[in-house]
Amino acid sequence: MFYRPEDGHGLPHSPFNAIVAPRPIGWISTRGPFGDNLAPYSFFNAVAYTPPQVIFAGDLKDSIANIQGSGVFAVNVVSEPLWRQMNATSARLPRGVDEFVHAGLDKAECTTIDCPRVAASPATLECRLSQIVTLESGKDFLVIGTVTGVHIRDVFLRAGWFDLALVRRVARLGFTVYAVIDRPIPLARPG
Ligand SMILES: Cc1cc2nc3c(=O)[nH]c(=O)nc-3n(C[C@H](O)[C@H](O)[C@H](O)COP(=O)(O)O)c2cc1C
Repeated sequence: MFYRPEDGHGLPHSPFNAIVAPRPIGWISTRGPFGDNLAPYSFFNAVAYTPPQVIFAGDLKDSIANIQGSGVFAVNVVSEPLWRQMNATSARLPRGVDEFVHAGLDKAECTTIDCPRVAASPATLECRLSQIVTLESGKDFLVIGTVTGVHIRDVFLRAGWFDLALVRRVARLGFTVYAVIDRPIPLARPG
């Protein structure tokens, strides 16, 4: 089949985000005038090493509204034991309901920014807002952040590596389907 997005795909569900998959999940924690907030974003990735920078995108919901005000956010890694709690934090809840409490997650404080983080997450990136870019619809926004601090739970460090087999990271495959990365395969680059 072939379709132009503006004509529609004729399928029960859009294949777009299942084609761009797997995607890491940026589990974004923020602090705002209505309290602390936590939500998953799979339009998320790392985009540069020096300084380390990440992006995520979505419409103007609580996360981006909080970041507009505070200028900071944190990205928490989702591992298999946190998978269902991650999903619970995507619920549409009344503003001011703390998703940490809703999902039964312990909070820790960030070190370089005034922001909560998921205590049980294998790793968290503390980020300062660099830019918010308005996307073509005018309704979606791309958030670019610079990493100012990195937390790694020591239990996930083995022989000096952030051990991907231990982490059992959850990735989004599209629709409501996920994958657990349980068999990372090393392959050295040529040269
Ligand atoms: C795995 C997963 C990935 C998601 N990715 C996105 C995303 O990239 N962009 C987005 O706008 N919403 C995404 N959502 C939906 C948001 O998490 C949801 O709308 C949430 O309520 C937003 O919370 P907030 O208002 O606190 O920002 C995702 C949901 C799930 C479960």
